[in-house]
Amino acid sequence: MVVRGKGFTVQCLVTTQGEGVSRRMVKFAATLNRESIVDAIGVVFDPMIPIKGTTQQVELHVRKLYCVSKAMPTLPINVEDASRSDAEIEAALQRGVQLPRVNQDTRLNFRVIDIRTRANQGIFRIQSQVGTIFRQFLLSENFDEIQTPKLTPGSSEGGSAVFKLDYKGHPACLAQSPQLHKQMAICGDKNRVFVIGPVFRAEDSYTHRHLCEFTGLDVEMEIKKHYSEVMDIVDRLFVAIFDVLNERCQKELEAIGSQYPFKPLKYKPKTLRLTFEEGVQMLKDAGVEVDPLGDLNTEAERKLGQLVLERYDTEFYILHRYPLAARPFYTMPCYDNALYSNSFDVFIRGEEIISGGQRVHVPELLVERCQACGVDVNTISYYIDSFRYGAAPHGGFGAGLERVVMLFCALGNIRKASLFPRDPRRMVP
Ligand code: 4AD
Repeated sequence: MVVRGKGFTVQCLVTTQGEGVSRRMVKFAATLNRESIVDAIGVVFDPMIPIKGTTQQVELHVRKLYCVSKAMPTLPINVEDASRSDAEIEAALQRGVQLPRVNQDTRLNFRVIDIRTRANQGIFRIQSQVGTIFRQFLLSENFDEIQTPKLTPGSSEGGSAVFKLDYKGHPACLAQSPQLHKQMAICGDKNRVFVIGPVFRAEDSYTHRHLCEFTGLDVEMEIKKHYSEVMDIVDRLFVAIFDVLNERCQKELEAIGSQYPFKPLKYKPKTLRLTFEEGVQMLKDAGVEVDPLGDLNTEAERKLGQLVLERYDTEFYILHRYPLAARPFYTMPCYDNALYSNSFDVFIRGEEIISGGQRVHVPELLVERCQACGVDVNTISYYIDSFRYGAAPHGGFGAGLERVVMLFCALGNIRKASLFPRDPRRMVP
């Protein structure tokens, strides 16, 4: 029998040739259903013939065997089936053998079994590492971790993507981001903060990269001279995350790649920065016309990602100085040209993982920006007032944890990077 734990598998032999092993014990072993939990005690052997199909190249000759929990005889999905790559299934088909393919919905319906595959063990270990490195790096740079409310009186990012609820008779919503409160923490004399926590978006579209609930990795900090100070943190932080993942998580990356093949992310020790205008020009030169004062659509972002890869040999870059019209009300306009803003997006493999920038810390300008963006100042007066008590220039950014994992491992669908995803069609399990 094969015993699995934490993504590793080892072959176990239960035979009467083993010391102290009775016929009854061998029979008992044969009654154990797949996926039962066992405690096995035995002697480790180095087999003469290489073992196929297990991660460990040793054999355990079992002497004692206990069943801790017996699984039901037939499970809704089989871990072996859920572990097959598309290539394996295709190759078998070529030989005339039809192997079961477990589709995404079935996997998610029976997620508890699905996450037992080696690839999924790897994905969620990587996810845990990204959060850990994010926290460790920022703590070492003198940032304080803070908690912000998830029940809020109104939206922070604008738009209709808000889950509304009743808060003891008052209209309220689930936080779309910690944006307003992380800025208020800076007004409260905390000069460098970060938040790791759930973020809610009432997304209407069902896409490969949008969830209704995800984990926000948010940073906010005082700026001394220029918003490039925030981009410097993005640069060093994310290069550190990628470096550590590549160093510490080789086994996990290999396990993920064996089911979902992907090429390692190409990035540079110093992250490439392009202005939005430079990006628009690159697209124009490639025959793609975009609004120079609007936002880039998904297709244009992908195309620019390809062009950047061809020209600069990197799949991780920062695009900054976005048109003001494409940014939320709290974004600081450029001092030299108010059509643009002190803001940026960051891309992995042509898809956005971060947005950030400098914020408006001058209350009069903030009111003006709210009016220009159609934001009712009365709903966020508590926030605007925070800048009337003395507020330092500041900026920050927000990344989505699941997007970082999905794009680092080129998983193609954000649901693969969320343990129990919430999307417009799914709230269970
Ligand atoms: O671009 P977003 O909406 O920006 C903010 O929330 C700002 N408050 C951040 C800031 O500090 N300026 O979201 C930030 C990141 C995106 O880049 C993306 O990685 C992720 O959050 N994200 C989502 N991830 C999964 N599902 C969704 N529906 C997401 N929406 C945004």
